[in-house]
Amino acid sequence: MKIACIGTGFVGVVTSAVFAKLGHQVVGLDIDEAKIKSLSQGKVPFFEPDLEEILQETLASNNLSFTTSYQEAISQAEVVFIMVGTPSAPDGQADLKYVFAAAKDLAPYLQEKAIVVIKSTVPPGTNQKVAQIIQKLTSVQFTTASVPEFLKEGSAVHDTLHPDRVLIGATDPYTIEVLTKLHQPLTNKILVMKPESAQMAKYSANTYLAQRITFINQIANLCEKNGADVQEVIQGIGHDKRIGLHYWYPGLGYGGSCFPKDVKEIAAYSKSVGETDSLFIKIDELNENRIPRLMEKYNQLVGGFTGKTVAVLGLSFKPNTNDIREAPALKVIPWLIDHGAQVRATDPQAIEVARSHLPSQVTYFNDPYETAKTSHVLFHLIEWSDYSHLDFKRLAQLMHQPAYFIDTRNQYDPQLVQQHGFTYQGVGR
Ligand code: UGA
Repeated sequence: MKIACIGTGFVGVVTSAVFAKLGHQVVGLDIDEAKIKSLSQGKVPFFEPDLEEILQETLASNNLSFTTSYQEAISQAEVVFIMVGTPSAPDGQADLKYVFAAAKDLAPYLQEKAIVVIKSTVPPGTNQKVAQIIQKLTSVQFTTASVPEFLKEGSAVHDTLHPDRVLIGATDPYTIEVLTKLHQPLTNKILVMKPESAQMAKYSANTYLAQRITFINQIANLCEKNGADVQEVIQGIGHDKRIGLHYWYPGLGYGGSCFPKDVKEIAAYSKSVGETDSLFIKIDELNENRIPRLMEKYNQLVGGFTGKTVAVLGLSFKPNTNDIREAPALKVIPWLIDHGAQVRATDPQAIEVARSHLPSQVTYFNDPYETAKTSHVLFHLIEWSDYSHLDFKRLAQLMHQPAYFIDTRNQYDPQLVQQHGFTYQGVGR
């Protein structure tokens, strides 16, 4: 099949490479010339495991190419994916200007019977708006569909090759047939539904997961008041098959480019349709307040951060990515510096990206032990596997005494850490 992928951000690059790997002829399109040049040379402009390999493999097989020309990408395509960014508008709703711009720019080159698929996260009703824009600029017959994306950063290639399900939001039989055929090699869990349902499903999935995290964080707060251990509580509830043990880790709140934005968007969307009494607003508020609240607690624990040296492990928003959007480090580190601490920081992948977003006073090291040297407090912010077997005996020798270990992802057995003279502080335990 001939496919055009508009937008070479995270989802765009992964989707292009995966469809090319399945043997389709894919053209990736972006208006950013530097990005297109880099991708054409097989270089991914961000860190994502396995992506560079599959990109290089599919470029070499000539199944994949990149261009900045709409004419080149669209004029042959049977299926056109729109995967451009949807930043938040000032009222919190999704700003669809890039989606609409793509629709306008692709329209003149659309071939007969082309299918325009929206993969960007957009509110219900967007397909009709996109179809109206295209209709004004072409005389060919085309259809639109919504196929939302559910991949996770850090495991994007695997998630795209092995999705839990694919939603095809379309009503036209030909469109459903083509998109089903396209996705069949990836999964047999293909669910056909209205485009509005597919779009609501995308927001609902992310909001549900975000509220699950917020819920366990609220439970963790209570555990801290009464001596319970939230990790034991998770076992206690998770063996109920209706609840499950997965995706239940408390911490500093959810981050990344999707959950914070999507929860704000569904909250703003609820408001715009007259549903003002919304759970979503509360989820967002609780998540926004989480780091300031915990920082006050840590401040008391260590007797104030003024004059203290603090080592921070993990700058990305989660492991296996160098994406720092809504990463805890972006709130924690400025807070520490404002409260008089000196900050030393490290991350396996994200130092370069983080540097320009963090205060200039931060010093960076490549190794967790170098980072910990001379510090009073060690913050374990992100559960990179590089930090999963820290040598506490060695750390204790390198750090000031008394030393504090703040385990924001509950990665360590408190007793093991305490044995080496550390004051241990987890979340909800
Ligand atoms: C999320 C969804 O999981 C994907 O299904 C979706 O496709 C994607 O958003 C998107 O809309 O594009 P992602 O943002 O890559 O994927 O990351 P997650 O692994 O879901 O983590 C999101 C945040 O929740 C991170 O800050 C993570 O640390 C936090 N989290 C996750 C917890 O605090 N506790 C958990 O138990 C799980």
